[in-house]
Amino acid sequence: TDPKFIRNFSIIAHIDHGKSTLSDRILELTGTVSQRDMEEQLLDTMDIERERGITIKSQAVRVAYTADDGQEYQFNLIDTPGHVDFTYEVSRSLAACEGAVLVVDATQGVEAQTVANAMMAMNADLEIIPLINKIDLPSAEPERVKGEIEDGLAIVADDAILASGKTGVGVKDLLEAVVHLIPSPEGNAEGPLRALIFDSYFDPYRGVVALVRVVDGSIKKGDEVRLVNAGTEILVEEVGARHPKEVALPNLSVGEVGYLVTGLKDVSQVRVGDTITSRVGGVTEPLPGYREAKPMVYTGLFPIESDQFEALKEALEKLSLNDPALEWEMENSHALGFGFRVGFLGLLHMEVIKERLEREFGLDLIATAPSVEYHVYKTNKEMVSVHSPQDMPDPSEIDHIEEPYLRATIMIPPDYVGAVMELTVAHRGTFKTMNYISPTTVEQIWEIPSSELILDYFDQLKSRTKGYASLDYEFDEYKPGSLQKLDILLSGKPIDALSFIVHKDKAYDRGRVLCEKLKDIIPQQMFEVPIQAAVGGRVLARQTVRAKRKDVLAKCYGGDISRKRKLLEKQKAGKKRMKAIGNVEVPQEAFMAILKVD
Ligand code: GTP
Repeated sequence: TDPKFIRNFSIIAHIDHGKSTLSDRILELTGTVSQRDMEEQLLDTMDIERERGITIKSQAVRVAYTADDGQEYQFNLIDTPGHVDFTYEVSRSLAACEGAVLVVDATQGVEAQTVANAMMAMNADLEIIPLINKIDLPSAEPERVKGEIEDGLAIVADDAILASGKTGVGVKDLLEAVVHLIPSPEGNAEGPLRALIFDSYFDPYRGVVALVRVVDGSIKKGDEVRLVNAGTEILVEEVGARHPKEVALPNLSVGEVGYLVTGLKDVSQVRVGDTITSRVGGVTEPLPGYREAKPMVYTGLFPIESDQFEALKEALEKLSLNDPALEWEMENSHALGFGFRVGFLGLLHMEVIKERLEREFGLDLIATAPSVEYHVYKTNKEMVSVHSPQDMPDPSEIDHIEEPYLRATIMIPPDYVGAVMELTVAHRGTFKTMNYISPTTVEQIWEIPSSELILDYFDQLKSRTKGYASLDYEFDEYKPGSLQKLDILLSGKPIDALSFIVHKDKAYDRGRVLCEKLKDIIPQQMFEVPIQAAVGGRVLARQTVRAKRKDVLAKCYGGDISRKRKLLEKQKAGKKRMKAIGNVEVPQEAFMAILKVD
């Protein structure tokens, strides 16, 4: 296709502002997918994406659009995730585009990821088309939202497209705007091949498939190519476009977006962000990079039955094939046996992976409390990265500890300024600035330790603002903190999997509340179970789970056998989520109790 008739763009938005629904309408209106094959959120292909109504993976799709000028255009559109955990997916999608459609919900207005995504698009020098969505809703306030886009994002919004992904109104206007406002790709058709890999996935039949944007030259089946950074050489097995089903093509020419079958078996050989060039006579300089995915939270995942260890390892290997952001290493816990310490982009990513391990691979897992990565400077000047409280060196060897801080953007209606201040300061946040982007929306910037954010900060923020607050954050820097390891002892023995790292000023309170919680969570056993919280051998709090008095079956007076069976089955089901530590049965909730202590 002549680059003049190509338009490459991403759809970006805050979570739930309606990107996926809007993409569905575009596929429908351009006849890419027939009415008969239309399912909701067609581009959200994972079960979990559909169920939760969220986009996790970006999806590229090619559509043909015949514009009002009678010309047929090739649109390559990329639906991106809205949730902050998956920001890096957005950044790499933008690198393949000339434009972005910024979707803003007409009832919600500009929210935290609207700002973050718009900034990314601006930094990537993309043409931005603002679109105010969901105007079918009676509570839509397009004029107010226009004002917020102008004042909050400095994007001219007079001509913002008013649309509804639900009714389809405005979608045609959007397609015309794409034709007229988004620049066509510029590249050298004759020059040496340069193509950017912006995504890759593993196909069980064909190996690694890379999604690419051709910047210069063209690429076809049988070409011998090389990855500039990795040095890997590839014989191209097939190229084509996704509609969204893959359709093979004779070639991908300059400016086009499409897929490339590499025949490789391992996704890690095809790093997203790398540049593809010809094996002979290719370029040596890679295209400018993109933002690397770096885990923010780490958790231990342990099989409840120790014979599932190998299965868990295989499952993690499989998931990693399609998820370069997933990091993991073996972890050995006295309490829980062999498992893995796994790094995630955030709590949603963690939940999704855990759910997939359990659902798609049939594993029963215990997850330990999430932790961040601490930098521990030892007295011998060595620095160690600690992902798990149990790896914390002995206090006598520690000079000081640094913890990661985030720069958080919070958007709220002015009424909640006080409540958010109080909450965030209690989470060791430092207030930076605040500005009004409209009479109804305030933007606050904070600096807050990552470890505080993962302690259900977001849930509390939502509940204290009646759901109005939105939050975005990015890694800022490491800073020293007075941090200590808090140990939990059951029957006098420290349980490594229950320990966590805490700020000195909070050790006492968190220890006390955690003991209270654990007392309620740990079921009664045949004997008394003392629970203690301690720092470096000094006990800060103590509770006791009283011994059980009667056998549960005694409750089933009479000989109602079916009832007895039901009770036994219920106990068995309950057991699945328990782990015997020494002689104490500890349920899954115990490991997560720390998240609920505030
Ligand atoms: P993520 O992919 O998770 O970031 O969300 P999204 O931005 O793709 O939003 P999605 O398309 O999943 O829509 C979110 C919710 O809004 C769903 O319940 C949709 O049915 C609803 N919705 C989307 N567009 C419209 C619209 O134009 N009007 C109305 N009334 N509801 C809409």
